[in-house]
Amino acid sequence: MESIWMAESEIRKREALSGDLQSEAAVIGAGMAGILTAYYLKQAGLNTVVLEADRIGSGQTKNTTAKITSQHGLIYDRLIRVFGREMAYHYARANEGAIGEYERLIREKKIDCDFVRYSAYLYSQAQELPLQKEAQAARALGIPAAFETESELPFPVSGIVRFDGQARFHPLKFLRALAEEVTVYEETKVLKVDGQQIETDRGIVTAEHVIFASHFPFLNVPGYYFARMYQERSYVLALEGVPVPEGMYLGVDPKGISLCPCGNHLLMGGGSHRTGKNQKGGEYERLRKKAGEYYPGYHESAHWSAQDCMTLDGVPYIGQFSRRKPRWYVATGFGKWGMTGAMAGAHILTSLITGKDCPQGDIFSPQRQFTMQAAQELLSHGAYTAKGLAKHLLPGKTQDFIPNCPHMGCRLEWNPEEETFDCPCHGSRFDKDGRLIDGPAQTDCKKR
Ligand code: FES
Repeated sequence: MESIWMAESEIRKREALSGDLQSEAAVIGAGMAGILTAYYLKQAGLNTVVLEADRIGSGQTKNTTAKITSQHGLIYDRLIRVFGREMAYHYARANEGAIGEYERLIREKKIDCDFVRYSAYLYSQAQELPLQKEAQAARALGIPAAFETESELPFPVSGIVRFDGQARFHPLKFLRALAEEVTVYEETKVLKVDGQQIETDRGIVTAEHVIFASHFPFLNVPGYYFARMYQERSYVLALEGVPVPEGMYLGVDPKGISLCPCGNHLLMGGGSHRTGKNQKGGEYERLRKKAGEYYPGYHESAHWSAQDCMTLDGVPYIGQFSRRKPRWYVATGFGKWGMTGAMAGAHILTSLITGKDCPQGDIFSPQRQFTMQAAQELLSHGAYTAKGLAKHLLPGKTQDFIPNCPHMGCRLEWNPEEETFDCPCHGSRFDKDGRLIDGPAQTDCKKR
């Protein structure tokens, strides 16, 4: 089923590329990160084009819960401990700044996209101390945060952390307006990038600066993003006929749900799992059960799922793609926080490309220090991938395609919830006939 954003917004169709061209910058991917980056590069005076394999906003932007917030779970206490106070401060500034910049842009351009300021809350039903520490850490970094014990939620909590001045909007209405300001070629699939030459199925683009903003980078080498990122799926219900809270809520306990007001809807999200790990299904049903418990008599007007790129240390990769490619750039691994990540990414990449000082760049750099947490995640991610690869020789069932992922060969797992074949290694997805839905794979499954 489509998200409520898709039902309410149509984006004007653009021409495909027709033949070769040259530009100062080329952005691969016309989601929020790609369009914002192209916009700011153009503002900085660079001739910029965006190349999109499908349509503007057809990737993960349409599946977000559209929170614009610097509250990213229990993160600030950990960032201070792992990266130090200065780096944590830059993470906080980049994300707080993103909220203000969305508002400024929306006002300046008079974009009608339902932008509303809200408070954002973390809640727990089991513990207080981690929330208290998070509120303290956030305050130390300049975020107005408070720990409280009362909430408007329809279930008891042991504590909440409030961040004021956060926001939400209609992501596709915003994207539709901003995309009018940049040059986008739709249905133009990038096949290969060689130096500054981008080979597409419609022609070759030669660009001084190449920006990868296509969710999960599809190139394996250099960069090796496949080894340091995996993908997660999560599920959203749009409820009607229920009391809509006055803030946006995220549960920090295992299986905690998120709640986000959206006009007369309440968006209830949860059920996160690694892509490829939903062989039994039932995530929507579990959410519906909770919805019935907290909001008896609710009406479900839509449901949809999201796919997010997760990094080893929980911080996005924004910056130079690889030391070996100084004029390639990347913005990926936003976790569940793609709206602020996209805006922070657009600013950092624009600064790097135009040679401006950008102190916020270090914490997001794909070449940043390798932490202990990242090392542990790398081991568990490697073990997962090895298991998926080891299964690739097992006989497939009755499909007329080989159920191995064209990306690196892992055996695909059936996802009964969404009737898709999902790759447990790096998260590519295919429909029931083996046709590609999400990368990093670039092609359909091989026919038998
Ligand atoms: Fe990498 Fe499937 S996504 S092997």
